[in-house]
Amino acid sequence: ATSEQPYRTAFHFQPPQNWMNDPNGPMCYNGVYHLFYQYNPFGPLWNLRMYWAHSVSHDLINWIHLDLAFAPTEPFDINGCLSGSATVLPGNKPIMLYTGIDTENRQVQNLAVPKDLSDPYLREWVKHTGNPIISLPEEIQPDDFRDPTTTWLEEDGTWRLLVGSQKDKTGIAFLYHSGDFVNWTKSDSPLHKVSGTGMWECVDFFPVWVDSTNGVDTSIINPSNRVKHVLKLGIQDHGKDCYLIGKYSADKENYVPEDELTLSTLRLDYGMYYASKSFFDPVKNRRIMTAWVNESDSEADVIARGWSGVQSFPRSLWLDKNQKQLLQWPIEEIEMLHQNEVSFHNKKLDGGSSLEVLGITASQADVKISFKLANLEEAEELDPSWVDPQLICSENDASKKGKFGPFGLLALASSDLREQTAIFFRVFRKNGRYVVLMCSDQSRSSMKNGIEKRTYGAFVDIDPQQDEISLRTLIDHSIVESFGGRGKTCITTRVYPTLAIGEQARLFAFNHGTESVEISELSAWSMKKAQMKVEEP
Ligand code: FRU
Repeated sequence: ATSEQPYRTAFHFQPPQNWMNDPNGPMCYNGVYHLFYQYNPFGPLWNLRMYWAHSVSHDLINWIHLDLAFAPTEPFDINGCLSGSATVLPGNKPIMLYTGIDTENRQVQNLAVPKDLSDPYLREWVKHTGNPIISLPEEIQPDDFRDPTTTWLEEDGTWRLLVGSQKDKTGIAFLYHSGDFVNWTKSDSPLHKVSGTGMWECVDFFPVWVDSTNGVDTSIINPSNRVKHVLKLGIQDHGKDCYLIGKYSADKENYVPEDELTLSTLRLDYGMYYASKSFFDPVKNRRIMTAWVNESDSEADVIARGWSGVQSFPRSLWLDKNQKQLLQWPIEEIEMLHQNEVSFHNKKLDGGSSLEVLGITASQADVKISFKLANLEEAEELDPSWVDPQLICSENDASKKGKFGPFGLLALASSDLREQTAIFFRVFRKNGRYVVLMCSDQSRSSMKNGIEKRTYGAFVDIDPQQDEISLRTLIDHSIVESFGGRGKTCITTRVYPTLAIGEQARLFAFNHGTESVEISELSAWSMKKAQMKVEEP
């Protein structure tokens, strides 16, 4: 019942119980979507001896939980089945690559195929008897070699894949090639490496169109000038998913990113969002990404409720028109769950005021709001020493009055506002231009102690003189997933309210700045519960 389990989600993917982390091998096969994930079948905490659980869906919204796909049973994976990726080979043949921890505790790469291609759910998988197909490189530590990517086909008919690694704190994406999928050779130079960044986990590498929001098949041949390549890296030391945009040259086997990898590199999400993995969906011609969103309460809380971890809501992603960053947006199937729409236009929100959004279930909602600002000359000057957006957000939480901002949403709020998760913007002047900051402030998200209530923040690359400042927030009991500037900046957080649960939760639009702002448009929906059930034997 909800009262006993107030933090279970209604439309974010979760297993019925136990520990879940990384999404593994997402793919679409004959119109059925598959999600595998890192799973501990014995309890709600992580354990290195990982299994792969498996769920399928016809719409990426409602899921059927199947039997486990991989268990650590063979010499090449006896100590754990770690993350990996799927590829649908020509002739419509799916294969899976994953990391195993072998009898000597070395990370190695393994191959598996479905037992019966006529089973629409591909329930059973067969591990290749010649595993491992890639063993640990000599110069690499045994636990620094994992998470093979989706493979891609080159013009000459051979395959490529990447495996994440590190050597002496230099993060490495090793490049391998193969003609037969069984014998793999490491290229002399890795696809990319950056010193001082530590282990790269769950590397993802995929093309994006420079002039279209459609997805690109990972194996697109002869990409010409119409694609760039995204290299996504999970920086283990920071628990952050960063990405680079650049040019991949198949002939030279090299990748030239447009920017250096630093701590201010672009991130898929500036909150809790890790080990993301994308796949190309041929049904709707798009690229979809999902990621593990960890808990932020205590181990004792996790043990008491018996589960840990959710998946982010699936996002479509594509290259922004400016070709400098990705845009991300909840997949359109979300509309299947919309009900009780409330909406209004052109409402002034005076400085220091708030407005309750009534008529929806605020603990389970999808909210879109956009703001128009006038008299921007009044905006405060950005202190030149304020360079770290997360720090600015932490030091200037939702209670701190500015001129333009904080304005935004109070999600999962109690009626007395003692509990609230504030997602908001501030607008500053900087060198005669304007800067938009987006924050997600969890400091008042729960009356409970012993919970990490960190505040997150990032800049949004929009010009408030030209563009409205928009926010979309998916609220689902214990997860708040926000998209600023139509998907330019995303912040996902986990919260554990004690008052603002179920029917008690409320939603407000607020403006704690001194200047008024106009809500040009607000639309909000209650969300129906997605069906997630275990397949009956
Ligand atoms: C990332 C990660 C992967 C590894 C898996 C183990 O969260 O550490 O590198 O394969 O989780 O569960």
